[in-house]
Amino acid sequence: MKTYETVKDLQSALQPLRTNGMSVGFVPTMGALHDGHLSLARTLKDHCHVRVCSIFVNPTQFNDPKDYQAYKINLEQDKKLLGQEGVDILFAPSAEEMYPTGFQSKVMVSEVSKPFEGALRPGHFEGVATVVMMLFNAVRPDLAIFGEKDFQQLALLERMVLDLKMNIQIIRGALVRDSDGLALSSRNARLSRDGRQHALLISQGLFAAREAFRKGERRSEALENLVRASISEMPAPIIDYATVVDEATLVPVEEVSGACRMLVVARVEGVRLLDNIALD
Ligand code: PAF
Repeated sequence: MKTYETVKDLQSALQPLRTNGMSVGFVPTMGALHDGHLSLARTLKDHCHVRVCSIFVNPTQFNDPKDYQAYKINLEQDKKLLGQEGVDILFAPSAEEMYPTGFQSKVMVSEVSKPFEGALRPGHFEGVATVVMMLFNAVRPDLAIFGEKDFQQLALLERMVLDLKMNIQIIRGALVRDSDGLALSSRNARLSRDGRQHALLISQGLFAAREAFRKGERRSEALENLVRASISEMPAPIIDYATVVDEATLVPVEEVSGACRMLVVARVEGVRLLDNIALD
């Protein structure tokens, strides 16, 4: 795997490959890689000739600067993992390369970014949309893969690509769970052993809701109550939201019809855990 730190070097490496008719697939990350990310890198194999990943801890998507300072990655370890997955090229720019002095542009996807994470983390999705647009312009991929774990981010980027008529196919990467059902996240490492057991109530609630849906329940409130009931078995449960939404618009629905998804965020030991499930 070759690593490039500047857009110029990256593009000089990719241009001849593209001229030879090779397609480019891309997975952007912020490092601290776990199997959820690696499964996206693995999925690239089936879709393109040249596999590109990026590692860039994007300062503009942290609404709290303290979280940015606290976000630590091990670049050497992450590189090793991507190399083992057969990634061809890593783009690992500095903050100065991405946001040079004088930088002042922003990309905003107005509606999809408003509710849920957008309401709780002001500016977060502008930071995400802006950096992903820049990364797309740097890599110029034919396709890019984003995980369903951060479902609002995925829906927002699908909307951005559609609205701005970008010629990039977005592929959804399935949410990866541990064998006990917990959605993989770098935040899980912050949980105690008990906290981890309590966190399982989130996915158990989602599985119960999907089961009820499959048996014919269509009322969102009834499905949401199943998730809430499961989470309420935690000591001191805090639910930020447990809501059934239309997958494309993220607007809450009263009755499930068409592509809908239950989004949930609950806090365990102060850690916000995001999870979701397709109602299909
Ligand atoms: O999901 C992430 O890791 C980040 O939000 C992304 C898409 C790499 C943009 O910084």
